[in-house]
Amino acid sequence: MQVRLSRIVAAAALLTLAATVAAQPKSRADCERDYKPHVGQSGKDVVWVPTPDDLVNRMLKMAHTTPQDYVIDLGAGDGKIAIAAAKQFGARSLGIEYNPDMVKLANCMVQVEGVAGKTKIIQGDVFKEDFSKATVVTMYLLPELNLRLRPIILNMKPGTRVVSHQFTMGDWEPDETAEIEYRSAYLWIVPAKVEGTWNFRAQNGAQFSVALNQKYQKLTGEAAMGANRNPIVGATLHGDEIKFAFNDDKGVTRTLTGKVQGNEITGTLKAAGGAEAKVTGTRK
Ligand SMILES: C[S@@+](CC[C@H](N)C(=O)[O-])C[C@H]1O[C@@H](n2cnc3c(N)ncnc32)[C@H](O)[C@@H]1O
Repeated sequence: MQVRLSRIVAAAALLTLAATVAAQPKSRADCERDYKPHVGQSGKDVVWVPTPDDLVNRMLKMAHTTPQDYVIDLGAGDGKIAIAAAKQFGARSLGIEYNPDMVKLANCMVQVEGVAGKTKIIQGDVFKEDFSKATVVTMYLLPELNLRLRPIILNMKPGTRVVSHQFTMGDWEPDETAEIEYRSAYLWIVPAKVEGTWNFRAQNGAQFSVALNQKYQKLTGEAAMGANRNPIVGATLHGDEIKFAFNDDKGVTRTLTGKVQGNEITGTLKAAGGAEAKVTGTRK
C-alpha cells in the first residue's frame, strides 16, 4: 500500500514537471500565441514601434553598459532593450511598460531569451514609476515626453547615462550622438550640480575661489586668486567629474581635475610645467 502510494506521488510529480516543461515558451511564436502586437499600435502616451536590433546594441554600447549596470527601459514594448542589456551586456535590467498585454509578451520573451534571472518587465506608467535606481536609462518615446521626464532625470545620481532613440531633450545637448541607417541615438550623462561659488585650498598652499555658472553639463565661470580674476577655460563636467583651467595671479595656467560630491570637490591642481598638488573645494 505504502509502495503504491509513493509510486502515485512520483507519477504525479513527473506529470507536473512535464506540464511545466511543455508550458515553457521556446520561441516568439509561442509568446505571440495569445497576443500578437502590431507595429504602430497605440500606447498610453506613444505608439509601439520597436527599436531595430543594431540600434539597440549601439545605444547600450554608447552608454558603456557593463554587468555592473542596472538598465531601465522606459516604455519597454516587447522588452527587447531590457533583454539585450542582460543577454549581450550582462546587466540587470527592468522594462516599464503600460500595456499589460505587451508586459505579458515581454516577460514571455524574457524566458525565451533565458534572462529571467536578470530581467523583468513590469506594468506601469513611466511618469509614476520610480526609476531612480537605474544606472542606465533607455527610451524611445517622443520629444515632449522626454521633456516631461527631463527634470526627473536631472535629479538622478550624477553619472547616470541616458540614451534616447530618435528624440532629444530640448536645450539639454547630448554628450554623444550616433546614427545607424538614418536613425539617431543620443547619450546624456547626468551632470552633478555645481553651480555656485567654491573656495579651494591646495596642499601646496594655493588658495583661490571659483564662481561657476552651469547649464546642464556646460560650465562657465571665473577664478579669483589674490587680486586677479580670470575666466575658467576648457571646462568639462562628465557626471561627477569636473575639469577646468584658469590663469593664476602670475599668469600661470592651472588645471583643476576633481570629483564632485555634494558640496565638496576633491582632486588635483596642476600648474603648467609644474607639479601636481591635491586640492579640495567647498561650496559657499
Ligand atoms: C516606441 S515604443 C518603444 C519600445 C521599446 N522601448 C523599443 O525601443 O523597442 C514605446 C512603448 O512605450 C509604451 N508606453 C506608452 N506610454 C507609456 C507610459 N506612459 N508608460 C509606460 N509605457 C508607455 C508603449 O505601449 C510602447 O510599447
